Amino acid sequence: MKDSSFAILPENEKDSKPVEYKRIGSLLAYSVNNQNQVELTGENGHVTIIFYQEKIVRMIMNPKQKPITKTSMAVIRQPEKVELFVDNRENDLVITSANITITICKTSMQLRVADQNGSTIMEDDAQYGMAFNKNKEIISLKKMTDDDHFYGFGEKTSFLDKRGERMTMWNTDVFAPHNPEIDALYQSIPYFMVIRNGSAHGMLLDNTSKTIFDMKSSNTTYSIKAEVGQLDYYLFCGPTPKAVIEQYTSITGKMPLPPKWSLGYHQSRYSYKSEQEVRNLVENFKTKNIPLDAIYLDIHYMDGYRVFTFDEDCFPNPEKFIKELKSQGVHVVPIVDPGVKEDPEYYMYQDGMRGDRFCKYIDGTIYHGDVWPGSSAFPDFTREEVRKWWGKSHQFYTDLGIEGIWNDMNEPAVFNETKTMDTKVCHDYDGTPRVHREVHNEYALLMEKSTYEGMKENLENQRPFLLTRAGYAGIQRYAAVWTGDNRSFWEHLQMAIPMCLNLGISGVPFCGPDVGGFAHDSNGELLVRWTQFGIFTPYFRNHSELNSIHQEPWSFGETYEHIIKQYIEQRYIWLPYLYTLFQQASATGLPVMRPLVLEYPNDENTFNLSDQFMIGSDLIIAPVLHPGARHRVVYLPKGEWFNYWTDERLAGEKHHLIHAPIDILPIFVKEGAVIPQGRVRRSTKEKEEELLIHIYPSKKNHSFFTYYDDDGNTFGYETGEFFTNEIQCQLKKDKLNITMDTKQDGYWPDWKKTTLLIHGIEEHMDIYFNGRKQKTVFNTNNETIHICVDISQS
Ligand code: GLC
Repeated sequence: MKDSSFAILPENEKDSKPVEYKRIGSLLAYSVNNQNQVELTGENGHVTIIFYQEKIVRMIMNPKQKPITKTSMAVIRQPEKVELFVDNRENDLVITSANITITICKTSMQLRVADQNGSTIMEDDAQYGMAFNKNKEIISLKKMTDDDHFYGFGEKTSFLDKRGERMTMWNTDVFAPHNPEIDALYQSIPYFMVIRNGSAHGMLLDNTSKTIFDMKSSNTTYSIKAEVGQLDYYLFCGPTPKAVIEQYTSITGKMPLPPKWSLGYHQSRYSYKSEQEVRNLVENFKTKNIPLDAIYLDIHYMDGYRVFTFDEDCFPNPEKFIKELKSQGVHVVPIVDPGVKEDPEYYMYQDGMRGDRFCKYIDGTIYHGDVWPGSSAFPDFTREEVRKWWGKSHQFYTDLGIEGIWNDMNEPAVFNETKTMDTKVCHDYDGTPRVHREVHNEYALLMEKSTYEGMKENLENQRPFLLTRAGYAGIQRYAAVWTGDNRSFWEHLQMAIPMCLNLGISGVPFCGPDVGGFAHDSNGELLVRWTQFGIFTPYFRNHSELNSIHQEPWSFGETYEHIIKQYIEQRYIWLPYLYTLFQQASATGLPVMRPLVLEYPNDENTFNLSDQFMIGSDLIIAPVLHPGARHRVVYLPKGEWFNYWTDERLAGEKHHLIHAPIDILPIFVKEGAVIPQGRVRRSTKEKEEELLIHIYPSKKNHSFFTYYDDDGNTFGYETGEFFTNEIQCQLKKDKLNITMDTKQDGYWPDWKKTTLLIHGIEEHMDIYFNGRKQKTVFNTNNETIHICVDISQS
């Protein structure tokens, strides 16, 4: 090629200039439609501003035509009525709602959004607030202050605060490497939150093509850019970080409450290859008394990697096998990829072809790409009929007793240089065709929608569990997310923390990495430290690759096995607390696993704190992240804290050096906390016999916690079949008053016995429970001092 004219392609010109952006220019006209929509005509384009709620505004710029208000599938809300006042001033057009003011400069159409006190929330760059070029790219530059810190962006490598990063959103199958240089991974969530001096706002760029967020190239501006389509973004005005997440998830939806079994310990490997191998594995968990809730079947379970089939030799009787495991409290979760093998004798391929359901080019030719089964076709999930067909096809699995599906390779991944489908493929998009490059990032979201809805229908009243690798904004409505093909490196254990924290900020509470690392070889110490961390990642699965050494809990000898077992058991002990936080996440959008900055946005020590995190508002977890380390520094923010293991009191707003031998995961509890726990169980199928309520009374603050429970399996909770109990606690002088008040009893939990464990108080104090003085048992167990009260009979 280099000897032909190809060598002098115009793009290869050394000094070629980047394609110039054209500004939208000055404001020519405006009109107010309905009560919450303003349309602007600029010299070089059109803008529509729509108020969705008092503090959520959508801005759409289209250089060619009146903006299209149809949204991607990420958005599930319609705008509410918001009263607006429009003031046509000499230099500016000013739009005001009860909470925010948008000022549009008439000469440049530069936007400034301010709160009711006049403080700027977001302001366009004077030149390139809204611009585009002849290649169809659109861009918006926003002003950035020295105090701006950036979070969210879904699943990204590197540290928590994304200031100084440039990130690309383009769903990509990245086997290796996951390092700070790699920005496009499997998930594309074009959303972020800015925290500035304790206040927050957020932005969702709802554009399903390749988008780029540049928080790196300038110190005074940042940019959001899309390869094609409209500049279509939502501004969430906060003002707190939590309010931003609530606003974002009010637009893109919340995680439905997952089945309880999906919160247990899961074991996977690429692959457990036969019924017998899986039976032996489950038997091993049983004999070693290690809790287990699910086993995964990777691609080898299928007949020649054909989805919706089982290999007859290795899995001769899947129905019996799945029932048998379920009766032992173990769910089987098979992998399902979107690629359907090109095989005219295979029913899914026949059905897809006959029903015209596969992705194709504009001339009608079906697109085939290579994945595990070889040449494969891909369902066009942008068409409703295809989504229904694919969803319904899961009857194949649900009829066998399967309730969970693992969706992989759904970027979609294809084994070629671009790693994906030809961007020229033309999707149906329910009658408004769009090429793949415009909708690439939405493919997985649509596959999950189809799978979730199909599974839900097939399972009738049971909650389905889905796990996905790829996704777009809104993916939380359908599936949990695991962070793909990490490696058994300490660096990847470290990276998993900020990655999951930013996923949580991006509306995805149910996430976690492959515990132990997927590729490369794990080792005993790494697996211990990773399992310790894993008990607090919302999703908890050990998974490893074909060629790596085995990393089941017992793989590295008895010493490590013993500690790993102890921590998997801890997961079950913490489940009542975690489940309550899952319920809160499904109601409010707030993540279970949180960065400290979410709770302490004014504390600069938290801005980029990437090696410790919170579970809810009262627990700090500080995993050990280095080989050989037996100490680590932990930052405790404002308040008084307890070392969970020793009950030692520790002062807040300080760094502490904590001793963490190999069997200790440092955990800290905030004074004032109320934490429900259960007992060790072999799987969530076993009944919860006893509820333990840990109380860490505070002299300064009244404690308050609403404990939540339900059957963990059905959708009955949507119609009141759940249990809530308000636990309160007040410490005055030497008197501790604890009350428990059942608020909702549409479901009654299993536990027969309730024990209060009161930490950090002295022996002579009087304890009252629901007004009655209690007999107490004072325990000193090493350094731990707590008072036990059995309130089962009270
Ligand atoms: C992909 C997945 C991995 C899986 C493998 C085989 O690499 O990310 O989890 O084990 O495919 O299906």
